[in-house]
Amino acid sequence: MPSSSTSSILLQCAAQMAATRRFQGRVQMLIICLVWLAIVATLLSPCAADPIKITFDGCIPGYANNKTQYCCPPKYNGTIVDLCPEKEIDSSKPLRVRKALQCLTGKELKVYKSKLDKAYMILRNLPNNDPRSVYQHAKFHCAYGTGAFVQPGTNITIDIHFSWLFYPFHRMFLYFHERLLQHVLGDPDFTIHFWNWDNGATVPQPKGSKSGCFKAGNVLPPVYNDSATAQYEVRSNLTRFKGLPVDLSILPEERNNPPLRPAEVVLPRNLASMYIAMMIGNTTRSFLGREYRYGDTQVLDPLTGAGTLEVMGHASGHWWVGGIMGFVETSAGDPLFFAHHSNIDRLWNNWHHLPGGDRKDWSDTDFLNAEFLFWDETATLRRVKVKDALSIEGLGYTFETANDAHWINYVPTNSTGNVTSNSSSKPVDVHFPTRWNRV
Ligand code: C2O
Repeated sequence: MPSSSTSSILLQCAAQMAATRRFQGRVQMLIICLVWLAIVATLLSPCAADPIKITFDGCIPGYANNKTQYCCPPKYNGTIVDLCPEKEIDSSKPLRVRKALQCLTGKELKVYKSKLDKAYMILRNLPNNDPRSVYQHAKFHCAYGTGAFVQPGTNITIDIHFSWLFYPFHRMFLYFHERLLQHVLGDPDFTIHFWNWDNGATVPQPKGSKSGCFKAGNVLPPVYNDSATAQYEVRSNLTRFKGLPVDLSILPEERNNPPLRPAEVVLPRNLASMYIAMMIGNTTRSFLGREYRYGDTQVLDPLTGAGTLEVMGHASGHWWVGGIMGFVETSAGDPLFFAHHSNIDRLWNNWHHLPGGDRKDWSDTDFLNAEFLFWDETATLRRVKVKDALSIEGLGYTFETANDAHWINYVPTNSTGNVTSNSSSKPVDVHFPTRWNRV
C-alpha cells in the first residue's frame, strides 16, 4: 500500500480525533479510521495486483547496451497451447540426469560431442525466420531481456532479468531448448549437461557417495571449444586459450578484454563469490530477486532487483566467456549459453537444500501465476506458468552431484565481504559489479 495514502489517512484521522471533544467520540472516530485504513489497504495492497503475463502482441524494439534492439519474434498464426507437465511428461520414465560436462569421458564424451555438433548444425541451417533456429534463439532472449514485450493495456515494458522471473524463465527456456535438441536428434533421452564453473577444485569422491563429479569445472568446457564443431562460437575473450580458470569477478566493461588474473587471485575470490551468492543469499528475496507484478516498471539496477547468484556467478560467467555471450541481445546465440544456464538451474535447485536461512521459492500468487511464452520443437507457441517450473523432477530431469561442498564450507571472517578460506588465512577481496548490464 503506497505510504502516501496511508499517511494522509492517518493525518486526517489525527485531526478529526483532536477536534472531537468527548472520549467516546474519539473512540468512535478511531474505530472509523481503522476500518477505513483496512479497506484502503485491501484495495491497494500488492496482493490485489496481477501477475506479469507475456504476450507477443504489441512487441516493440527493445533497448540495451546503448542501442535499439530489433528482436520481436516471427509472426504466429497458430493457437497458443498451455504446457501441462503432468500430462506431457511421463512420470513412469526414469529422470534424465544432467551431468557435469568435465566428467564425461571415453565413449560418452565422444557421442555427446558429436550429438551437439549434429543438432547445432541443423539449428544453424534453419532459415532465420524459423523460431527454432540459432538465430531466433538469440532474438528470443533479446526480446525478453531488452524490453520488447509490453504489459497489456500499458506502455510498461517487461524484462525477465533482475527479479523473481529470472530463474523460472531460464529454466523453461532450457527445457524447451532441450526438447528441440531431442527432436532434431531423434533422441528423447538427450540432456543439456552443465558447465560447473563454480567448482574450482578436484577432490576425491567423498566416502559413501555412489556417483557424482568431483573434478574442477572452471575452465571453458572443451566440448564447446572445438572450432570444427557446430557448437563452437567464435569468442573474443582469449583467456580461455591460456588455460586460466573462470574469473567470477569480471566487470561488464571488461567483457571483451578481461584482465589476466592468475589462479591464486581468482580461485579464492570465486569461492568467496559463490559463498556469498549461495550461503549469504539464504532468503527468498535475497536469492530469487525482487517481486515483480503487473504495473511494475522494469528495474534496471541489478543491485536492487536481482538475486545474489544472478549478479555474482551468472553475469561474470557470461562476461568471462566474452564475444556474443557477453551481451543480452546475443548471448543465447552461443550454444554454451545453455550449458552455463544449466549450472544456474542446478544451483537454484540445490540452493533449497543448503544449510541455514529460509530457503523457499516465493509462494505469492503473482509469482506462481506469472506466464511466459516459448516455442516448442514443432514451432508451436506454448504458454507456461511459473508454478509449473518449480520442480525439476516434474519436468523429468535431475542433476548429477558435484563438489558444492567446496564453497559451502568456505568460512567468512566478517560481514564486509572479506573472507578466509579453510586452508589459508589471507583475507580475500571480493569484487561486486556495481555498474551493470543484463546478459
Ligand atoms: Cu537471460 Cu544468462 O541470461
